[in-house]
Amino acid sequence: MSESAVPYTTNNAGVPVPSDDNSLTVGRDGPILLHDHYLIEKMAQFNRERVPERVVHAKGAGAYGVFETTEDVSRYTRATLFQPGKRTEMLARFSTVAGEQGSPDTWRDPRGFALKFYTEDGNYDLVGNNTPIFFVRDTIKFQDFIRSQKRRPDNGLRDHDMQWDFWTLSPESAHMVTWLMGDRGIPKSYRHMNGYGSHTYLWYNASGERFWVKYHFKTDQGVDFLTQEDADRLAGSDPDLHREDLWQAIEGGNPPSWTLYVQVMPFGDAPGYRFNPFDLTKVWPHGDYPLIRVGTMTLSRNPEDFFVHIEQAAFEPANLVPGVSVSPDKMLLGRIFSYPDTHRYRIGPNYAQLPPNRPHVPVHSYAKDGPMRFDPARTAAPYAPNSYGGPAADQKAYDHPAAGWQSSGDMVREAYSLHAEDDDWGQAGTMVRQVLDDAERDRLVSNIVGHLKGGVSEPVLERAVQYWRNVDKSLGDRVAKGVGKD
Ligand code: NDP
Ligand code: HEM
Repeated sequence: MSESAVPYTTNNAGVPVPSDDNSLTVGRDGPILLHDHYLIEKMAQFNRERVPERVVHAKGAGAYGVFETTEDVSRYTRATLFQPGKRTEMLARFSTVAGEQGSPDTWRDPRGFALKFYTEDGNYDLVGNNTPIFFVRDTIKFQDFIRSQKRRPDNGLRDHDMQWDFWTLSPESAHMVTWLMGDRGIPKSYRHMNGYGSHTYLWYNASGERFWVKYHFKTDQGVDFLTQEDADRLAGSDPDLHREDLWQAIEGGNPPSWTLYVQVMPFGDAPGYRFNPFDLTKVWPHGDYPLIRVGTMTLSRNPEDFFVHIEQAAFEPANLVPGVSVSPDKMLLGRIFSYPDTHRYRIGPNYAQLPPNRPHVPVHSYAKDGPMRFDPARTAAPYAPNSYGGPAADQKAYDHPAAGWQSSGDMVREAYSLHAEDDDWGQAGTMVRQVLDDAERDRLVSNIVGHLKGGVSEPVLERAVQYWRNVDKSLGDRVAKGVGKD
């Protein structure tokens, strides 16, 4: 923030200004003058300081770092960033989801885990969460889900009744709500949580072999959490706790790191797998597809300006590089459209030219002009094809047939076809019975009961008790007792 020699103040055009303290007036006590350009510039600039906050994930923190591929996974992907020994500069932003810019970091919520890798093939963005799963499995329900978590239109208050109303009417949410109400629903800090790509992605190698993959970034700091009581207290005393923790760790020379593992499913396994491998409400149990180590991400550089580098960061699942592609996950495919669309609205159509978003390779796009354009077009002519040596797309090199998958059928509006063990409650129940220990189960009950007591009324309350009995009978019975409905 400080510069060694204190410089003189200038206006935005670099012209020295005579005063930081006094406006230009007619006499000491007279009116201020319209031609005090510097004063007008200050007021006008101030009035335009904000861009709209992100419609979700508004509150966050971020830092720059490096991803290093320490293992050889070249048999699964040709992506340059995942070749052995490769080091790739990157940016990470962590966030809460439903709260606004000023909301406390310790509210119970999933956390965003957004990564941008500045690869030699352009930007690769992996925009995940600290959860391997999600509340809904079709993009068309996302907007309704989020509205149920945000504020009521009449009084501007958040409302547990809306949240449980949506969840209990959407049984596919059960696995994620179980996760959310458990310990990991309030991480101790951003450094103490895992990150997941969550969706299934497609990888293909140099020979065109295809694999389905899931990304797991395991925290090297250890997973840790806050109890509801501690989180409630800290929400009052230290609302920016997680932002500060990340900043201080890096400033103090203690850069946090995560180890990346992937689960890899051979391409041909998908149709016969016991769960739909593209359903975002399901995990692939580790016993079926074990974790394979890939490399390490280390965050070592704080942003020099929060607004420039973190607020204007624009992550988009559409940024994919050769070797990585999408799967038929109906959430992922919707997200491919949504993010660049919201960036054009939130930051402007030339958002990709801003410091955190600009690739570390030359851009040879035919895009031109528009508000706040500051990179000159580098194409020989403003259209393609042209006769003047402008860039030409290389289908042979970049339209790899392995980057896609076959699909056929009539156009329908129907749910995924079911696999043998697909249902909405099963994995949530397994988690309660087999993954959690007694103390974690006790806290799960207490968190659910506390949340339900925060303003949930009939008929939603009755449905909520049944929801938990569907997940696990004894858990449901304990919840019923806790809310006085046994
Ligand atoms: P494992 O025993 O190999 O893994 C269970 C995993 O659950 C852990 O590795 C951990 O994921 C995660 N986990 C542990 N404690 C918690 C917690 N308190 N809150 C949330 N997640 C936690 O079992 P499988 O992977 O074979 O899964 C068995 C079943 O468990 C699945 O069918 C599913 O129903 C359920 N389950 C599994 C999850 C998973 O991430 N694998 C998550 C939720 C449910 P991590 O290693 O990523 O930290
Ligand atoms: C942010 C849409 C599901 C992770 C956002 C934003 C939008 C959005 C509009 C704001 C982006 C911005 O203003 O910069 C959607 C839609 C979804 C969806 C339409 C479902 C179809 C998910 C899922 C995950 C996720 C499943 C995680 C696996 C994130 C993260 C951010 C974000 C991490 C914050 C990015 C940042 O730090 O800037 N989402 N989202 N979203 N979303 Fe989603």
